Amino acid sequence: MINDMMMITNNSKYASTSSTNINNIQIIKQLGQGGGWGQHASIIFIFSNKKYSSLSSSSSTVTAASTSSSSSSSSTVNKIQVNRIPTSQFSNNNSKSNLTTTPLVKVKHPLPYFHFLVSNRSSSPIMAAMNGSSSSTTPPNSFTTSNHLRHVESMSTLPSGAGPIPKLNALILGESLASEEDDLVLPSHDFSAQAHVSSPHKYLDMYKSSIEDPAGFWSGIASQFYWKHKWAHPVYSENLDIRKGRINIEWFKGGITNICYNCLDTIIAAGNGEKIAIYWEGNEPGVDASLTYNQLLHRVCQLANYLKDIGVRKGDAVLIYLPMLMELPIAMLACARIGAVHSVVFAGFSSESLVQRIMDCKPKIVITCNAVQRGSKTIHLKDIVDTALTHSSLSGATVDVCLTYENESALKKENTKWVEGRDTWWQDVVPKYPATCDVEWVDAEDPLFLLYTSGSTGKPKGVLHTTGGYMVYTATTFKYAFDYKQSDIYWCTADCGWITGHSYVTYGPLLNGATVVVFEGAPNYPDFGRCWDIVDKYKVSIFYTAPTLVRSLMREGDEHVTRYSRKSLRVLGSVGEPINPSAWRWFFNLVGDSRCPISDTWWQTETGGFMITPLPGAWPQKPGSATFPFFGVQPVIVDEKGAELEGECSGYLCVKGSWPGAFRTLYGDHERYETTYFSAFPGYYFSGDGCSRDKDGYHWLTGRVDDVINVSGHRIGTAEVESALVAHPHCAEAAVVGVEHEVKGQGIYAFVTLVEGVPYSDDLRKSLIMTVRKQIGAFAAPDRIHWAPGLPKTRSGKIMRRILRKIASRQLDELGDISTLADPAVVDQLIALADC
Ligand code: WTA
Repeated sequence: MINDMMMITNNSKYASTSSTNINNIQIIKQLGQGGGWGQHASIIFIFSNKKYSSLSSSSSTVTAASTSSSSSSSSTVNKIQVNRIPTSQFSNNNSKSNLTTTPLVKVKHPLPYFHFLVSNRSSSPIMAAMNGSSSSTTPPNSFTTSNHLRHVESMSTLPSGAGPIPKLNALILGESLASEEDDLVLPSHDFSAQAHVSSPHKYLDMYKSSIEDPAGFWSGIASQFYWKHKWAHPVYSENLDIRKGRINIEWFKGGITNICYNCLDTIIAAGNGEKIAIYWEGNEPGVDASLTYNQLLHRVCQLANYLKDIGVRKGDAVLIYLPMLMELPIAMLACARIGAVHSVVFAGFSSESLVQRIMDCKPKIVITCNAVQRGSKTIHLKDIVDTALTHSSLSGATVDVCLTYENESALKKENTKWVEGRDTWWQDVVPKYPATCDVEWVDAEDPLFLLYTSGSTGKPKGVLHTTGGYMVYTATTFKYAFDYKQSDIYWCTADCGWITGHSYVTYGPLLNGATVVVFEGAPNYPDFGRCWDIVDKYKVSIFYTAPTLVRSLMREGDEHVTRYSRKSLRVLGSVGEPINPSAWRWFFNLVGDSRCPISDTWWQTETGGFMITPLPGAWPQKPGSATFPFFGVQPVIVDEKGAELEGECSGYLCVKGSWPGAFRTLYGDHERYETTYFSAFPGYYFSGDGCSRDKDGYHWLTGRVDDVINVSGHRIGTAEVESALVAHPHCAEAAVVGVEHEVKGQGIYAFVTLVEGVPYSDDLRKSLIMTVRKQIGAFAAPDRIHWAPGLPKTRSGKIMRRILRKIASRQLDELGDISTLADPAVVDQLIALADC
């Protein structure tokens, strides 16, 4: 008997079986029977197990017959056809399905040719079906996905012929998926029945209205929030076409609101003041705290009053450099309450990176803490801030106030270095302020925060989000993608220093009145079972994390998981990079006991919220696929000329039209905003990611196609690492590429040319790595330094990274044409030094 989810798999280790004895089955083809969408379908199964006797089913709607000799032990492929299966499972009625006993035979792909919907062509089969004229519906095609599409190194080799974009070095990180990719995981009837979106049909209805009438769809949702004054008309205005002038996106302009008020005051007004808003779990097991919504509001108001008192006003930047203490979301909310613009910098960044960000946004105040304990290590954050403030002051950006929280368990006050006149202890001043604070009412298009992210140059981009659209979008995506219910306890392992911590630790959950777990420590401390210990302790029901964490825990053995109950878990989530199917399976089978759907959410700092994501009650899932777009999102896959590709294809992932959570500009550099995101493919927002779409319309993200590496879910620009390396006095030149990494997804591989006469040595390697740690942060440290007497360059001086990537991944027989290099001999030299 299968629990809440069914998995159809050919992986016998993890195959879920029911009384129907369906182990080792691989679906290879689904054929339409002319009935069309929502009617009937046929499925052909291939049975890859040697012995197949019968496919029994308790469903009266199913007829099944073996068409070949099942007794032959040498027979490895037997076909069976299951005719005319009613597909009520996917319809939007609540009739009791017997899916739990007959998972396989109920399978029908719910949404073939989804791209027709996306391109909104009324003549398409799916649109025809949605409009009620099913006669022209093209039959669903196939369950198989294009394994080969994901395991690609360069876009130029893709069947679609998408080809390389000029000036972009294409690298697609894929997984060797083999036939396992054909798994299909169905939500159980019970899960779907209680879900906000219970079927593909319901999704389709909502999606259709979000695309056909974005203004109506989103203003209907926005009306559920508190607005001091309603927005003016139009609900949104946009220009995403660079050929038509300035890129511009606005939602709910003229609407006056406050996101902090919507996160706290409205939740309290609805009677939930005594509900826990935050459970905080410290680095050491047993060190914890919690805040109700009432208490959280109290703390936020005190800080807001302090900020106002020292002169922080609407529109001023506040830089927050804190670890995952409750004070981090408190600081963000306090800024939002008074209309200040927060700029959270991940507390793993170095002082140099901090200087760069301080110089860019010129904050009135820096909020930090003296130190943090991560695992068994103490990190002196205040020292890093001190260095940064000294340097930025010398460069002309003086910050007058450094508000420092005493994180007592990591470092005592008396051991903290102090700058009199500038530094203030949080605990000394903030609690003295009143616990109520009037809200600064802001326009929906007033800035909410800045968040720096890596791009293709050495200078990070200050992604700017505004208030109203972001508020509506993060709250709505949170609710639907995690199927959030008031009784859920939600834990997202991301740090608030990244966008995930903004949208899905702080704003999205609190806007929904959720109880959020905030964890200060490390997942391997005191041992690799810590996550599940926390899940059991707080009865976490929604657990959202990154594939890199899943992979690192997976390596440590199942017993760290199985010794905990995890019975509270209901929905799992993944973000940051493509989740490889083997990690997906482990997460699903072991962590979620094959009971919890996984929302593999594709999105970006720039998008503000989820863009392509499963809705767990609606969709059958394919391990490794982010599935379908969220409401209002129109993803398109284009070739290198910007032509939209249809059907099964692979190319560059763009988005057509705006959505409320979209970023509005890059702080102080609208031109870079336009060139980076809207110029490569005029008319669209270009994500920088590659994507395949399979025959069923599922989206498979394949990784970055620009000079950005995704290391453990953290975006790092190759140019940033290169400029850090060349800051080393012995480094003449550097070229950085990403290579596949078992745990991190991508690792950083650096080719380094030393200045004339400097000998290679391991000490020098270490010192180069230290330079990067110092310049950017430990998370950006190269995994490998490869000595390079010269770099492969074209005659015009451009480094051919394609060749470097091949050398880095030791694919020496795939170097391709090297005759265009200024000095082809360089390649042999690099190969010779590969293992030095
Ligand atoms: C990658 C993180 C595949 C992608 C929210 C994107 C993903 C970059 C996924 C954004 C996913 C994020 N599947 N790839 N579910 N989620 N990515 O700005 O390459 O830190 O462009 O935002 O992470 O990273 P960022």
